[in-house]
Amino acid sequence: MEKSYKRHLVTAALPYANGAVHIGHLAGVYVPADIYVRYLRMRGKDVRFICGSDEHGVPITIKAKQQNSTPQEVVDKYHLIIKDSFERLGISFDIYSRTSSPTHHKTASEFFRKLYEEGKFIEKESEQYYDEVANHFLADRYITGTCPKCGAENAYGDQCEKCGSTLSPNELINPKSALSGNTPVLKKTSHWYLPLDQYEPWLKEWILEQHKEWKVNVYGQCKSWLDGGLQPRAVSRDLDWGVPVPVEGAEGKVLYVWFDAPIGYISNTIELMPDDWEKWWKSEDTKLVHFIGKDNIVFHCIVFPSMLKAYGDGYILPENVPANEFLNLEGNKISTSRNWAVWLHEYLDEFPGKEDVLRYVLCANAPETKDNDFTWKDFQTRNNSELVAILGNFVNRAVVLTHKYFKGEVPSQLHLREIDEDTLAQIPVIKKNIEESLENYRFREALKEAMNLARLGNKYLTETEPWKLAATDMERVATIMNVSLQICANLAIAFDPFLPHTTQKLSYMLNMKSRNWEDLGLDSILHPGHKINEARLLFEKIEDIAIEAQLAKLDATRPSEAAPAAQAEEATPSAAPQKDECTYDEFMKMDIRTATVLEAERVPKTDKLLKLTIDTGIDTRTIVSGIAEYYTPEEMIGKQICILANLAPRKIKGIESKGMILMAKEESGNMRIVTPEERLLNGSTIN
Ligand code: MF3
Ligand code: ZN
Repeated sequence: MEKSYKRHLVTAALPYANGAVHIGHLAGVYVPADIYVRYLRMRGKDVRFICGSDEHGVPITIKAKQQNSTPQEVVDKYHLIIKDSFERLGISFDIYSRTSSPTHHKTASEFFRKLYEEGKFIEKESEQYYDEVANHFLADRYITGTCPKCGAENAYGDQCEKCGSTLSPNELINPKSALSGNTPVLKKTSHWYLPLDQYEPWLKEWILEQHKEWKVNVYGQCKSWLDGGLQPRAVSRDLDWGVPVPVEGAEGKVLYVWFDAPIGYISNTIELMPDDWEKWWKSEDTKLVHFIGKDNIVFHCIVFPSMLKAYGDGYILPENVPANEFLNLEGNKISTSRNWAVWLHEYLDEFPGKEDVLRYVLCANAPETKDNDFTWKDFQTRNNSELVAILGNFVNRAVVLTHKYFKGEVPSQLHLREIDEDTLAQIPVIKKNIEESLENYRFREALKEAMNLARLGNKYLTETEPWKLAATDMERVATIMNVSLQICANLAIAFDPFLPHTTQKLSYMLNMKSRNWEDLGLDSILHPGHKINEARLLFEKIEDIAIEAQLAKLDATRPSEAAPAAQAEEATPSAAPQKDECTYDEFMKMDIRTATVLEAERVPKTDKLLKLTIDTGIDTRTIVSGIAEYYTPEEMIGKQICILANLAPRKIKGIESKGMILMAKEESGNMRIVTPEERLLNGSTIN
């Protein structure tokens, strides 16, 4: 039996602030979550919709390194882009905060501290990969290698994107540092672990017995994790970006991003409602629902619930976790690093006023039960033959005819005939179908039902043909227009969760003061005599040229001609993807100049490092460089090279290195030094 709740707490996965939001994120998480929340609000439920940027973790620090900036700069930039683009699309969060906020640091820190003090963690020393050149432990995405499960190259230390397996760095074959490309060494380090194995019996009961109703893909993934047996999971990392581990002697360690990020849901709730957040998280009267993508399932169904259980103190668990599968783009897997994506902020700039078209297409095509494909052609077709031809067309006909025959005043319903009654009688049925679909997280089906209401309207007008009766039977025309306008008013309600910009326009046209879900199904929302406003088109046709422009834009980055999604990841790119844009000023900050190698020797006990003494034209200095695999010391002596002279000095193997040698690197890893075509004076500047 469906329990009735006093309040609904809905969360959407906190996007990493290392890039903008794309259509894959939207279709998987944010569009369905927003539809759900808008629906609940319309039903008068007490709802809070929580989100924010996930600003910690290796994806951020790697991005900072790529862009030659700091993690803080990276998250500041993307947090704003993401927040703004969500707002423009009409994703109606009650709060969109960020995990770098003081409230979050405090909340996450206290959360860890309590578990630590109550002995809920195991502290363990282990050997972890370490990059001796970069002086850095290599957790998660800092390390890549061959996937032990599927053999794909370039699997990350935490996950293989090809086969989706969760990995740990020690499982990788041929591990390589993502920082330097070097083969890492093992080094001892100590971390705190959450002993998930202890929670296994409880999780089995809670998920496998009590949540058989969860989506098949979610339940299945949980079952396979639980059947495979859970291991203790480290909740700290050796990194300098994140929430510091709040324990004495833990300098240089931060909370693992997947420990702090879900606590972000709590922190953001606290920020939103500092005084009564607790009843939202600690009362059995709250229904908690997490909207996420399939790669987040284990964290939301197994890890975070175990954290909450360990914490106790009345924290509730999610009632459901309706995770979606992935959306592909034109047959290829969406990829941020290869720029194979439709970015929300770009879409909004390029298709102004068409927010709802994207919402519509992404919902109609949502990857609810399997991966799905977004194509621009389908986008165009759904706009032109569904939004324009069905919904827009019906509303336009009804409003225009009302102005034509009744000067924009709702006429009276006189004698209802069978066709009128049958038509009106279908609205409550559609209402019920939409409700049932939405309450079971079947958004595509719900949208289809809403569209059926517009189809019903079109059919009604086509069959009753009021334009033919206008000369002879105005009474009949009045009834037909009344019924048609009631359908329009019902459409304004039924579509509200899905297409909020459109229903606002439609309400304005109909001069409707409010849109209450409870009115949906009624045959008298607009009263006779009520004045409506002029007709305005709700949608406009999208021409081929706009679609061709989008395809051309994609073509510029197409991974390989028509590579299907399944194979896309296999194709070895012949060149690394272009890095993010940098400004002229950023480039000019770099002091790149010519220099000559005076002396060269191997750094003892290393395979890759040469210590070089060089003449830079301004001084003689030492540089340590990882080029020993490619050049012998003898070869290097006397060579003219190019260096980044003003790189902050670093200690490598105890030697202070001042600058970096410029190398050209093939994707396969092969490297050569970069040198001017003819010998120039040392210290010649390069730009
Ligand atoms: N940033 C993660 C991702 O994009 C999602 C974090 S969800 C939360 O995959 F639970 F950690 F907040
Ligand atoms: Zn794999």
